[in-house]
Amino acid sequence: MDAAGHSAYVRRIMLHAVRFIALGVILVLGIAWGAAWVGRQEGEGVGEAFSRQAAWLLGQEAVAPSAGGVQLPQGMALGGPFSLTDHTGRAVTEADFAGRYLLVYFGFTYCPDVCPTELGIIASAMDELGDEADRVTPVLITIDPERDSAEALADYVGRFHPRMVGLTGTPAQIAAAARAYRVFYAKVNRPEMTDYLMDHSSFIYLVGPDGRVRALFRPQTAPEAIAQAVRGQLRGGRVSEGGGFRRGGAIVIIAGEAAPAGDGAGRGESRS
Ligand code: NI
Repeated sequence: MDAAGHSAYVRRIMLHAVRFIALGVILVLGIAWGAAWVGRQEGEGVGEAFSRQAAWLLGQEAVAPSAGGVQLPQGMALGGPFSLTDHTGRAVTEADFAGRYLLVYFGFTYCPDVCPTELGIIASAMDELGDEADRVTPVLITIDPERDSAEALADYVGRFHPRMVGLTGTPAQIAAAARAYRVFYAKVNRPEMTDYLMDHSSFIYLVGPDGRVRALFRPQTAPEAIAQAVRGQLRGGRVSEGGGFRRGGAIVIIAGEAAPAGDGAGRGESRS
């Protein structure tokens, strides 16, 4: 074999190898995608099942679920330390709430409909709890610190519940708190609007006395279901069927009512 023939031979071998590897990758991805499709949980998309299973295979934490009715992976912790300012202008951290149960919502006061609805649901759940609500603090953490000053929050939270606490902070403090709860938020500018809106995930979090999230509630969960889950936690027991509870340390999302289709509410997102 001369030099030219030899290099052509090598090139052909390499081409075969590349094709073989590409085919292998496609095959593996196809099988993984198929497994995700078969193994997906109720209400979960194939993409979500895929990333969840991939995360499980790699021993990593999966991304926060955006669909309802999904059990978070084992060992996935939500919540934790934060450093913010309350609606009276006082600097607070998670230590100020230690020993208390919190119903936390991330939203903003300019929100036209989704946030007020969810905060109204929290208020109704508090009413539903009766005396047991004394151990629970409803909390709104703004994801729009630019506009939501302590004063703006003070005006707003009182409309929902007399004990609701509004929390704001610097953009960096808010970003850190949102990261701990895996809350998504982004500014949305629409040409026809003078003011911007915020796109944001819309879960209600039940936080335990240790500052860790015990349960998440999808948008439009019935206040009774939330109250039931809170009551289960307060009494140190498990929540009966229909409610959510910690199963082996994992957080269970309590499915809400059938969310209206198409507006992203069922995915725990709102553009509002
Ligand atoms: Ni909103």
